[in-house]
Amino acid sequence: MEPVVVLVLCLSCLLLLSLWKQRSGKGKLPPGPTPLPIIGNMLQLGVKDISKSLSKLSKVYGPVFTLYFGMKPTVVLHGYEAVKEALIDLGEEFSGRGSFPVPERANKGHGIVFSNGKRWKEIRRFSLMTLRNFGMGKRSIEDRVQEEARCLVEELRKTNASPCNPTFILGCAPCNVICSIILQNRFDYKDQNFLNLLELLNENANILSSQWVQICNNFPAFIDYFPGSHNKVLKNGANMKSYILEKIKEHQKSLDINNPRDFIDCFLIKMEQEKHNQQSEFTIENLISAAFDIFAAGTATTSTTLRYGLLLLIKYPEVAAKAQEEIDHVIGRYRSPCMQDRSHMPYMDAVVHEIQRYIDLIPTNLPHAVTRDTKFRNYLIPKGTTILTSLSSVLQDDKEFPNPGVFDPGHFLDESGNFKKSDYFMPFSAGKRICVGEGLARMELFLFLTTILQKFTLKSVVDPKDVDTTPVVRGFASLPPSYQLCFIPV
Ligand code: HEM
Repeated sequence: MEPVVVLVLCLSCLLLLSLWKQRSGKGKLPPGPTPLPIIGNMLQLGVKDISKSLSKLSKVYGPVFTLYFGMKPTVVLHGYEAVKEALIDLGEEFSGRGSFPVPERANKGHGIVFSNGKRWKEIRRFSLMTLRNFGMGKRSIEDRVQEEARCLVEELRKTNASPCNPTFILGCAPCNVICSIILQNRFDYKDQNFLNLLELLNENANILSSQWVQICNNFPAFIDYFPGSHNKVLKNGANMKSYILEKIKEHQKSLDINNPRDFIDCFLIKMEQEKHNQQSEFTIENLISAAFDIFAAGTATTSTTLRYGLLLLIKYPEVAAKAQEEIDHVIGRYRSPCMQDRSHMPYMDAVVHEIQRYIDLIPTNLPHAVTRDTKFRNYLIPKGTTILTSLSSVLQDDKEFPNPGVFDPGHFLDESGNFKKSDYFMPFSAGKRICVGEGLARMELFLFLTTILQKFTLKSVVDPKDVDTTPVVRGFASLPPSYQLCFIPV
């Protein structure tokens, strides 16, 4: 036999042996399809729509199964019961962050999204408190969102009711809310610094959902040895961080500890309070990364939801008209909508929930990891194993939401038209890692959409029947097709 063939055979045997050892080693992992050497179960997963492949596999292996992404075992949890049992009932055990090599290279374990342990707990708790207005000085978060909603309406007015693609304008508003929270002030939509920031964020969001980056995340060796778009993510990340550092230096010069203006000031004050603690997590590195995380996690998510939301409202003009009737009745034409209005607006509340349920923005959540060897059902999952939770399987559950593939605000209304809460509403995930920006994002979605519908009638450029709402990408995120609409002032 040729020496090369012998070598290939030996290598394959070694790989199979190592996979077999991993599967039957320390833990008792759930069952799953047999993996191939090196590529694992990649061939069984449609890269275009992973959550659909997971759904198919759950029909064969049940709600808890193991898949190999490359050589790495990943436990998949499918359906409300399994997701809730892990993320909520065993919250501490399932609160680790699973590896995501490309963005991890940029953040090096600092900040919130990719940190773990004590660092994650402390920076997360601080960020949550700050985003809930504790210590943020005189201006509330709601005030900042309302200001942006008014500016958004002015920008939309400039389109003069002619057909436009709303992507850019709807991208500016959520980014500006984060600017106001982190950097004190919003920017004009034409400001060059603002446009640069938006460009870096958009480019990174697009590259991170590309198939190449999915490959790099499963085969981390590619990141170091191959050229490719993942290097651009790292470069853009470094540019954004230099900008944030520059802003931190400006803040340090004008800091008044009795009058914090924004997130950076609050963090700098905490750093000052802990300056004698050698183990303190309140360091410049964690401040830069936490600010970066909030920008990255809080911009494209909210703007894509708004963009997808308007697409659904032009597809279903009867839903938009009913929401407008409620707005007219509760708020009228002139007063700025505020969060107190929401409790008197069950229909609008249901519309916003249904938009988030229907679009299923992050179908397979961010990867989690177990923080210790964990007994789950009849299995033993070794510490550090990656956990993938299908949020799709919860948001599209057909017992909780009859006809889950149909956009129907009735999914969140009872027979008398009151708002009906659902434990299955998990677009922000659940448990200890639940989105830090949930409160902020829900405020933005309610205030932006209500303000838009208060001031404009939305008009499709094609017959609503022909508006296609199928996502064009359903990888890490679900993205709507590109479209145009007219904002007709009321
Ligand atoms: C519609 C808008 C949004 C959606 C659908 C969304 C969804 C999510 C999801 C699914 C996760 C992963 C949770 C997990 O690991 O289990 C997450 C994490 C996170 N989100 Fe959001 N998000 C949105 C807006 C925001 C905003 C506005 C911010 C800004 C503050 C934000 C900041 C974060 C952060 C910092 C994390 C990491 C949390 C951690 O690892 O502890 N998100 N988000």
